[in-house]
Amino acid sequence: MGRFLIVWSIMSLMLAGSWVVAQVGPSNLKRGQELYEHHCVRCHGKNGDGLGPEAQYLIVPPANFTSMNIRSKTDGDLLTAISSGVLFSPMHEWRDRLSEQEMMDIIAYLRLLSPLNPIS
Ligand code: HEC
Repeated sequence: MGRFLIVWSIMSLMLAGSWVVAQVGPSNLKRGQELYEHHCVRCHGKNGDGLGPEAQYLIVPPANFTSMNIRSKTDGDLLTAISSGVLFSPMHEWRDRLSEQEMMDIIAYLRLLSPLNPIS
């Protein structure tokens, strides 16, 4: 019976895991904006320029999402940075607080703030 329970819990964990992955659907910009304003604005600024109210207290300046450096990064690069954080930086990991879907929503909003347009 004990062994059955263990196998059962592992199976349901695996099922739950694939369910979460399958839930990452089209990005929700509105939700992305809300989450960005709630969690990220204090450092990265309302316009994503890295000039949030707390930026002045940080030794490492927050990333400027309107810079070419960030604009040329892929969604995957940004997702990794948000999910795992940046080493030795106030940019800590968010994966314990945000779901992958929520991070993708935020990235969609960042792209709106700063479109990937090499000309402008
Ligand atoms: C406490 C301040 C702070 C908060 C809050 C914060 N960040 Fe950051 N973030 C930083 C700093 C500082 C860096 C620059 C790290 C470096 O270059 O070493 C950074 C870097 C980044 C980068 C770029 C990494 C790269 O590839 O260069 C992304 C993307 C990012 N933050 C997204 C977010 C998002 C999304 C949120 C909200 C969920 C957020 N940050 C919240 C301070 C913050």
